[in-house]
Amino acid sequence: MPKLITRSNSITFANPKAPVYPRLAQGKSWDEMTVTWTSGYSTKEATPFVEWGIQGQIQILSPAGTLTFSRDTMCGPPARTVGWRDPGFIHTSFFKDLWPNLKYTYRIGHRLFNGQIVWGRQNSFKAPPYPGEDSLQRVVIFGDLGKAEIDGSNEYNDFERGSINTTYQLVKDLKNIDMVMHIGDICYASGYLSQWDQFTAQVEPIASTVPYMVASGNHERDWPGSGSFYGTLDSGGECGVPAQNMFYVPAENREQFWYLTDYGMFRFCVANTELDWRPGTEQYKFIEHCLSSVDRQKQPWLIFLAHRVLGYSSATFYGAEGTTEEPMGRESLQLLWQKYRVDIAMYGHVHGYERTCPVYENVCVAKGSDRYSGAFTATTHVVVGGGGASLAEYTAERARWSHAQDLDYGFAKLTAFNHTTLLMEYKRSRDGSVRDSFTVSRDYRDVLACGVDNCAATTMAS
Ligand SMILES: [Fe+2]
Repeated sequence: MPKLITRSNSITFANPKAPVYPRLAQGKSWDEMTVTWTSGYSTKEATPFVEWGIQGQIQILSPAGTLTFSRDTMCGPPARTVGWRDPGFIHTSFFKDLWPNLKYTYRIGHRLFNGQIVWGRQNSFKAPPYPGEDSLQRVVIFGDLGKAEIDGSNEYNDFERGSINTTYQLVKDLKNIDMVMHIGDICYASGYLSQWDQFTAQVEPIASTVPYMVASGNHERDWPGSGSFYGTLDSGGECGVPAQNMFYVPAENREQFWYLTDYGMFRFCVANTELDWRPGTEQYKFIEHCLSSVDRQKQPWLIFLAHRVLGYSSATFYGAEGTTEEPMGRESLQLLWQKYRVDIAMYGHVHGYERTCPVYENVCVAKGSDRYSGAFTATTHVVVGGGGASLAEYTAERARWSHAQDLDYGFAKLTAFNHTTLLMEYKRSRDGSVRDSFTVSRDYRDVLACGVDNCAATTMAS
């Protein structure tokens, strides 16, 4: 039985409407950054804005747009019933014409109609490099993070304890991270909407400093009869609405949630596995466009990201279906990955780590290694779904393509040292130790070189 031991002074919120949880994301062009935050101020009582500029120089004011969503946009329970909580207002402002690599400071605020300004905390970020720029570029990638309380006070859905260690490791190494990509299963609110605030609070130290890019997962989107590719109940009735509003992504249509983003020598193509990606769909066209439109001399490192495993995984839940991937995943996409020489494809959904050899049509085109050099052989597939939600299990039978496995919490870090050297590291969240890694070393001619199924026809004419 709980027993009253003592009583604290009564506590109230200084300002329950205060602007909080600023989260950065890359904009639609390389010289644009966006900041999104949450407040209790509608546009009827205050004007949201950001004061920002190059650190130490004149700061300017830029306007912000305001969104919210209503209970009617939820597709079912609990989001539409006991899990509903008014999200307040979500504001986004755009930092434009950024100077590459310069450090900027920014402060979110609201100007009340009596002239008073309510400020958020001051933060700073580094502007992205020019696409193709030769400099050190480091991107962290993981899926399935979720949130948890350090004091263990969570009362339900308490299966993301691992997220505390992952968050801690990223904050600790933050000055060595340029961008974070959280590829789906973001906070596992699953219809209990207050958990979105809990999540944005937990990742604030990261997201307020480096772009925090998200992808859509089953726990954001899936709901029967809502157009999701899978008819599961995993979103708890949210059917994507909170995710599409709480985080900015540089998508043409944020409801579709697929987008491309460039960071220096990287091109990232982010798919949405919760909507159909098969040939003939709008998403398939986007994926091919993203892969084919990058100039590999300038941006050699081409990375495909998605939530569910469209490539290869040893998860028991795939094994039980007699497969090693989401059905129709690689069958329809492997030709594209091979044709456009995708270096690495990364996924979440399976809570753990696994890396393949360079593999095409189930066969290792090159032997799994911690060092690759020379011409492109095939895409390496990496599952990094051990961000924080309870761990998966792997099948006893080990496929030949499964080069490395680690059933623990962790995340991946990609480091582009220059145009010819890329490093992939997998780190465990419990101690930050590197448990698997590999490098890719190659020249531009190695990107152009013909291999299996990736060159156009040639002619004998001279
Ligand atoms: Fe998932």
